[in-house]
Amino acid sequence: MQCLQRIHALRDALHSHRRAGQRIGLVPTMGNLHDGHLALVAAARQHADIVVASIFVNPTQFGPGEDLEAYPRTLEADCARLREAGCDLVFVPDERTLYPRGGQRQTRVSVPEVSQGLCGGSRPGHFDGVATIVTMLFNLVQPDLACFGEKDYQQLAVIRRLVEDLHLPIEIIGVPIVRDADGLAMSSRNGYLTTDQRRTAPHLQQTLRELGDALEAGAEVSATLQEGRQRLCEAGFEPDYLELRAADLSESNASAGDAVLLAAAWLGSTRLIDNLTLRLPAATSPP
Ligand code: PAF
Repeated sequence: MQCLQRIHALRDALHSHRRAGQRIGLVPTMGNLHDGHLALVAAARQHADIVVASIFVNPTQFGPGEDLEAYPRTLEADCARLREAGCDLVFVPDERTLYPRGGQRQTRVSVPEVSQGLCGGSRPGHFDGVATIVTMLFNLVQPDLACFGEKDYQQLAVIRRLVEDLHLPIEIIGVPIVRDADGLAMSSRNGYLTTDQRRTAPHLQQTLRELGDALEAGAEVSATLQEGRQRLCEAGFEPDYLELRAADLSESNASAGDAVLLAAAWLGSTRLIDNLTLRLPAATSPP
């Protein structure tokens, strides 16, 4: 596996593969890799001849007071895991390479509508940072396909929309959430949890499942969501949001029945997110 830091080295390395007609798959990451990331690599492996991963803790998607400094940097272990997973090339640029003017003075990509509310509501500017770095990586790697986890449901929707709006010839593959044995969705931030918080954390998914069952059985939406928020509080979470949306994240478009229940909740200073896709009975629609 090649490990490259410079843009020109990345472009040179990919040039010959592209000329040979090989399909290039991209897995963007911020490192501190877990099995969820390796599932992205496996998906890219299935669909591409050459798998490129990137590791870059992107400062423009962190808000003031968020965990940019604390975010774990584990480059050596990450490279070992990527090599083992069959990744061909890893791109590990530094901040000055990608943002030579600094993140604040950088051209930004902003995806309207789908970036609003949910995580975008709690983390203003977050999805502009994500859309900017992902567009930059798409431009540098020029992949045929790119893989993103479904745990970050809104992020995946933002990226699909940006690819559509900018007419980028890139297939976006959403990869199902990988969970620990007790149901907790894998996340680089799970490492922040204390032992007690780690024990509580699976309640987030359990609550989504219970609410999902009720909604699929026709329960009234706002009362069910209210009940869900209360259950999360009782379990020790501080809910950030718990919302039911149409699968495309528009708020009032679930008539076809495909919907998604999305939650973000704090356990101490760690913010966890999760989601569950549902099929609502015909008479139900999100509030
Ligand atoms: O999902 C992530 O890890 C990041 O948001 C991404 C897509 C790598 C952009 O920095």
